[in-house]
Amino acid sequence: MKGYVVLISVVAALGGLLFGFDTAVISGTINFIQPYFGLNEVQLGWTVSSLLFGCIAGVIMAGKAGDRYGRKKVLMVAAVLFLLSAIGSASARSLELFIFARILGGVAVGVASILSPMYIAELAPAKYRGTLVSLNQLAIVVGILIAFFSNYLLVDTGVNNWRWMLLVMAAPAVLLFFSLFFVPESPRWLVARNQNDEALKVLIKTAGITNAETELKEIEQTLRVQDESTYADLFAPKVKPLLFIGIILSVFQQITGINTIMYYAPKIFANVGQSNDSALLQTIAIGSTNLVFTLVAMLLIDRYGRKILIVIGSLGMTLMLAGLSLLFFLQETSGILVLVFILGYIAFFAASLGPALWVVVTELFPNRLRSKGMSIAIVSLWIACTIVTIAFPVMLEELSGGVTFLIFALICLANLFYVISYVPETKGKTLEELETTFAAQGNGKANK
Ligand code: BGC
Repeated sequence: MKGYVVLISVVAALGGLLFGFDTAVISGTINFIQPYFGLNEVQLGWTVSSLLFGCIAGVIMAGKAGDRYGRKKVLMVAAVLFLLSAIGSASARSLELFIFARILGGVAVGVASILSPMYIAELAPAKYRGTLVSLNQLAIVVGILIAFFSNYLLVDTGVNNWRWMLLVMAAPAVLLFFSLFFVPESPRWLVARNQNDEALKVLIKTAGITNAETELKEIEQTLRVQDESTYADLFAPKVKPLLFIGIILSVFQQITGINTIMYYAPKIFANVGQSNDSALLQTIAIGSTNLVFTLVAMLLIDRYGRKILIVIGSLGMTLMLAGLSLLFFLQETSGILVLVFILGYIAFFAASLGPALWVVVTELFPNRLRSKGMSIAIVSLWIACTIVTIAFPVMLEELSGGVTFLIFALICLANLFYVISYVPETKGKTLEELETTFAAQGNGKANK
């Protein structure tokens, strides 16, 4: 694989890193902002999820803006928003300002969550696309781990500890902004703007001189009708099933409960009677497991395909959550087993649905409809994420841990059956070949 493509993907994946950091940093601050702003459980759920409302807005804007101004420029705007959010939330003295700054960060997360993987998928050679798009997920989990780790290191810095935790994000935001000056625009976007010579130059560097001309022709063909494409085209009989797969899989990625752990782990550990320090330390174990198993997914995803990973992962997640639920029912939550089941659950998620969702969602849609299709799928993802995030603290308190985790286990099981029946395998083909295959099939039924 060309070093140049990897380098570009790494820069784009910095967007993923900020996405991971910004969404997870909140977990370490919860136990401090709750008393500082005097929040009850319901208000806490809303405060934690304020960022997620920004995400929804960010994705909606990014789809359109990314088509009009290019993936790169809009990612730059996101970098600036990340910076403003870091400074704003870290210095907030009122809940209103805190929430406003978090929403701003959310807009940036929303933008990065769609444009980083899209940009990588549009630059990557087919053979390595799964691995390279997963690089974005790797960056998300690195971001999460950095957040957990810096939260742990900063926890003893006094009453302003949560402010320092939030400010850390300013550094990668600045790095993303400046490094974007060194990467090219997506060749598929350039062709859509009739800048074919520019696109060819990029393709020569990414695909090699022998493949560049052919790739350019393929892209030109699939993009011919981009300008006239509208959201309504997503509901054409041949595309609609793909749209539904994108939406349903995105929603499943969230309602299988990943962020109940990512955002609330210290709260779960406090709930079973552990101290703040030990809770934050355990989040580092969670973050590290997440990282290691994302690497495993990256090694497997282009070899064995996306579907088999998700199937095995969903089965594992179901079993781990069922185990966790059982511990709560039996009131055996004081031992190490809670952590073991949580880590097992994270490992299965990280090796499957975590990266694979982002890969599949960039691959499903035809070139001319990709950003529109991805917008809808990813908006659904953030809406689902918001609902789970608001509901979780209340569920934990009202329904108990046993019932709560049992519900998530059953959802993982439902995802397993859904993927087996409906999600097509997308490995190894160029985006243009996938487009032709899906159009010929006329539906998104699983390739058996
Ligand atoms: C999900 C995030 C989640 C992260 C955890 C991503 O794929 O979309 O919501 O926090 O994985 O690693």
